[in-house]
Amino acid sequence: MLDALLKEYQLKLNSRFDILLSANGQLYDEVVKACRYATIDGGKRIRPVLLLEFYKLCGKDDDCAYNFACALEMIHSYSLVHDDLPCMDNDELRRGKPSCHKAFGESIALLCGDALLTEAFLLASKTLGIPSDCVVKALSHLASNAGVNGMIGGQVIDMADNSEVDDDVLFEMYRLKTGALLKTACAIGCILAGADDSYVAIAEKFGEKVGIAFQIIDDILDTVSDTKTLGKNVGSDEKNNKDTIVVRLGVEYCRELAKKYTNEAYECLDNFDGDTTNLRALAAYLLERNY
Ligand code: IPE
Ligand code: IPE
Ligand code: MG
Ligand code: MG
Ligand code: MG
Repeated sequence: MLDALLKEYQLKLNSRFDILLSANGQLYDEVVKACRYATIDGGKRIRPVLLLEFYKLCGKDDDCAYNFACALEMIHSYSLVHDDLPCMDNDELRRGKPSCHKAFGESIALLCGDALLTEAFLLASKTLGIPSDCVVKALSHLASNAGVNGMIGGQVIDMADNSEVDDDVLFEMYRLKTGALLKTACAIGCILAGADDSYVAIAEKFGEKVGIAFQIIDDILDTVSDTKTLGKNVGSDEKNNKDTIVVRLGVEYCRELAKKYTNEAYECLDNFDGDTTNLRALAAYLLERNY
């Protein structure tokens, strides 16, 4: 049931990206091709799906939030392109194919990330059929969570030497580098639907809990999965001498921890009146996933 739902979303998002990111024979087509490569036909699409499911949960049943959902996935995709660069994690495989800089070279990969980030805001600003005050509020939420006090801040902590820091710092890193985009996905769905701030706050809490669990599982998979299943090279964290919660506390303990955060996320959903079946199934899938 969830599989079918995810497939449906993935197909719909892919066909949107195909139209949105088209190379038109311009002198700078190379960067557009890199953007297509980094965005189309890849990834689980968790962030746009969360956005669209929260939009539905808040009572909207239309396609108006799709531009915004695509914009969010473009920002996530840019973060992966930059995350893989030699100056960052130096990883050569992403979503089952050579990383963007392996396929297009470092300078185009850098510009591709810049382009996806910038074009994402242009696209999101073109959200039609939703009151403009909601769109502006959502744009601001996205920018603050993708920026210095969100995903970027988390990536900065990730790049530092964390061998001596308390576990709390690692959790803060998870909350920022991964939790922030998942949190904003959930919140934006509610904001675009015109939901009350109290619901936005609950959605944020859900996203943050799911986000921390998500990064714990990502770190576990980096140690226990295999490259073919994962679509990225396993052992990346070890190669880069990263201090992760999994290295410190062990796989079994961390699985329980991810479960605890997921259970707390379920509790957040109890506050909504609508049907939360899909969101519960999604949170469960993110916990059990093997890629
Ligand atoms: C990978 O995110 C980066 C992290 C924040 C851990 P995803 O696991 O959502 O990557 P895709 O989009 O499915 O490739
Ligand atoms: C999350 O951490 C990266 C971003 C926020 C982009 P990782 O560096 O562990 O993600 P993967 O494992 O490369 O996907
Ligand atoms: Mg990284
Ligand atoms: Mg990485
Ligand atoms: Mg990882």
